[in-house]
Amino acid sequence: MVRSVLVRDPNDKVMSAITIKSAKEIELMCRANEIVAGALNLLQLEAKAGVSTKHLDNLVESYAREHGSIPAFKGYRGYPASLCVSINEQVVHGIPSKKVIIKDGDIVSVDFGVNYKGYFGDAAITIPLGSVSSSRLKLLEVTRASLLCGIEQVRVGNRISDISHAVQQYVEKNSFHVVKQFVGHGIGTHLHESPEVPNYKRKGRSPRLIAGMVIAIEPMVNVGTSDVDVLKDGWTVITRDKKDSAHFEHSVAVTNGEPLVLSGDIIEQNFSHRMLR
Ligand code: MF3
Ligand code: CO
Repeated sequence: MVRSVLVRDPNDKVMSAITIKSAKEIELMCRANEIVAGALNLLQLEAKAGVSTKHLDNLVESYAREHGSIPAFKGYRGYPASLCVSINEQVVHGIPSKKVIIKDGDIVSVDFGVNYKGYFGDAAITIPLGSVSSSRLKLLEVTRASLLCGIEQVRVGNRISDISHAVQQYVEKNSFHVVKQFVGHGIGTHLHESPEVPNYKRKGRSPRLIAGMVIAIEPMVNVGTSDVDVLKDGWTVITRDKKDSAHFEHSVAVTNGEPLVLSGDIIEQNFSHRMLR
């Protein structure tokens, strides 16, 4: 039996259902996210000036398959690759290409997902390439820390809006801006499940967290305007003012105790501490 919690609008109309995962399912999602984390760790070693984004895509696709999983993004709503690679002013959903060569000083957001035995993992990091300016490093630090602030709110009895609020507050306190057109999401037997996990406070009441829910929290943070545009390729999201943007994402399970970061095996090379499990 699939347990779920119904989400209702202010008129009590059922909008969607949030599934509650069993311990066994959380274990499978943990494995899926371990593979995602392993692939992102590999990218941190292999992303170097002169390498094409298509090469990075090939690396993680092979890694996922060698570990018994299927890349989750390829074919999802027609997305043409396994990895999203978004450089500098690109926010998310950059399509890998052999013509796009990463260079020293770039900030490279890599977002990867897999399907392992029917369960999804999804995580993202922004990699600083070589000698990155201190203002770019600040953007990365703030975005990553805002994700940690959001994760801290993943506790039974809190609401999704507590996560949203924590992320937004931290980002704005540091004079950056959260993207509003794209949001985090529930995750499980589908890459995108209910509920939406915005990085900003919305009007109205949001769902309360229950043990067994799993959500992907993914702050997208811009230096300048929060406005974004989609390029003619139909996917690549860029900042309207062409200023920098960063993206970090973790899949997190709600437990009766501490937040369980399923993708917590990412070892961020350029940050002082490792994400806790
Ligand atoms: N982490 C991203 C998201 O949740 C990845 C989706 S890219 C897509 O939106 F290509 F699969 F759409
Ligand atoms: Co996601």
